[in-house]
Amino acid sequence: GFAFFGTCVDTPRLGEVRGLEAPSLLVVSDGRISQRCMGAEALERRRQLEQEGVEVRVLEQGEVLLPGFIDGHIHFPQFCFAGCGIDMPLMHPEGFLAKYAFPTEESMGEVERAKVVYRAALEVLLHCGTTTAVIYGSLHLGASKVLVDVALERKGPRAFVGKVCADRYCPDTYVEETEQSLQDTEDFIQYTQSRRTGSEAPFLVQPVVTPRFLPTCTPKLLQGLGRLADKYGCIIQSHLSESIDEVEFSATLFPGQTDAEVFHQFGLLKSPSMMGHSVQLMQGEEELLRQNGAAIAHCPLSNFFFASGALPVKQLLKRGVKVALGTDIAGGYSPSMLTAMRSAVMAAKTLQFRHVKGCAFGTESEAPSAKRAKNAEAPAGSSEDELSHFEALYLATKGGAEALDLGHLLGSFEVGCRFDALRLRSQVGPMASFPASSQADMLLKIITLGDDRNVKQVFVDGELVHSL
Ligand code: GUN
Ligand code: FE
Repeated sequence: GFAFFGTCVDTPRLGEVRGLEAPSLLVVSDGRISQRCMGAEALERRRQLEQEGVEVRVLEQGEVLLPGFIDGHIHFPQFCFAGCGIDMPLMHPEGFLAKYAFPTEESMGEVERAKVVYRAALEVLLHCGTTTAVIYGSLHLGASKVLVDVALERKGPRAFVGKVCADRYCPDTYVEETEQSLQDTEDFIQYTQSRRTGSEAPFLVQPVVTPRFLPTCTPKLLQGLGRLADKYGCIIQSHLSESIDEVEFSATLFPGQTDAEVFHQFGLLKSPSMMGHSVQLMQGEEELLRQNGAAIAHCPLSNFFFASGALPVKQLLKRGVKVALGTDIAGGYSPSMLTAMRSAVMAAKTLQFRHVKGCAFGTESEAPSAKRAKNAEAPAGSSEDELSHFEALYLATKGGAEALDLGHLLGSFEVGCRFDALRLRSQVGPMASFPASSQADMLLKIITLGDDRNVKQVFVDGELVHSL
């Protein structure tokens, strides 16, 4: 084992930030946090451990240790075109899915290419400090197994991998037969579960039952996938009430039902389910998510382009809905959870603007004048929608862990948690000559201005898996 001493910060609950005021000491044994103390006690314990010959790694001034980031929603094939296609509509015949996502994913049918792309994508995530990711592959069984293989080549990031399922409204060359999709999914689940290493969760690889989204899945496919998730105890992921065009198209396929009702009907809305976006929720959908313990994977950057709205993330959290944060490569163009955090803060701001007196944000139908009048005197910063950068950090760590039902093992520095962590340094990049005057400001500067250059070391299960 070893220990870390210094500014070790985590967010055990929304709105709570620990470890900024005084140095902490974390003891790591067998990949787990076995002890944690702060302040004077930490100093005392550090001395003891050093006398006992335990290696104490001391964080330098300008460094901070955080729990590893958890990316709740990311499409691995789409790394190939990240940055492109987001000026298009999602669903249009000339849109993001048709012109970029489907053809690129189809190219993963060539497994050697998939291997190269997926290896590189995993490397990018580690550089960004992501230690757990909930991943969409492609429709292909072979390429999806390759994703599991390459994720096991090195320890981390933890990969929750979905073989994507779609049996309609896709190109003729990139679509599945219903039965084949179900068979391949079962094969993929068995393969992935057989390749888990170690005897206890959270494993390095886990299969995810992955209906792409309602428009591309027949009721028969959804029903079969619900049964498989049940049979193998798998987590589930999909896109739910993602955008206006998606919700409208779904409503023509499942008349009279909301997205959440359809997923629920087929046993696909449970704990843990990671439902991407969920921005255009209709009456009753929030309640269904909450009642079933299903989580929202908030993808703020992608939502700016496709969702025609912002998720009221703070209110959802307060009302007991689980929310993770996702990059949604490539609907979101950045693989960095730091960027996702900043985007989440800004998305929340756009909701807050509506309540500021004289602000011309949004249309009347979005912000009824009655509501606007009621909140007109509220100063900027007092809105119930505002999300701080530290609250965004919660989403990127503990929030994601809770969404996966792994809050007792991931997402914080609580005793008993796996030691998935990143060591950040502040003095890099073009702003390095302007150091912060407190540890809190230093962390804020990294969250607002940082990138992979700030990520000095990354640990998964106590093992160093990346360092600069
Ligand atoms: N909805 C269904 N598939 C996708 C996808 O690949 N990206 C995004 N952003 N939304 C989707
Ligand atoms: Fe997505």
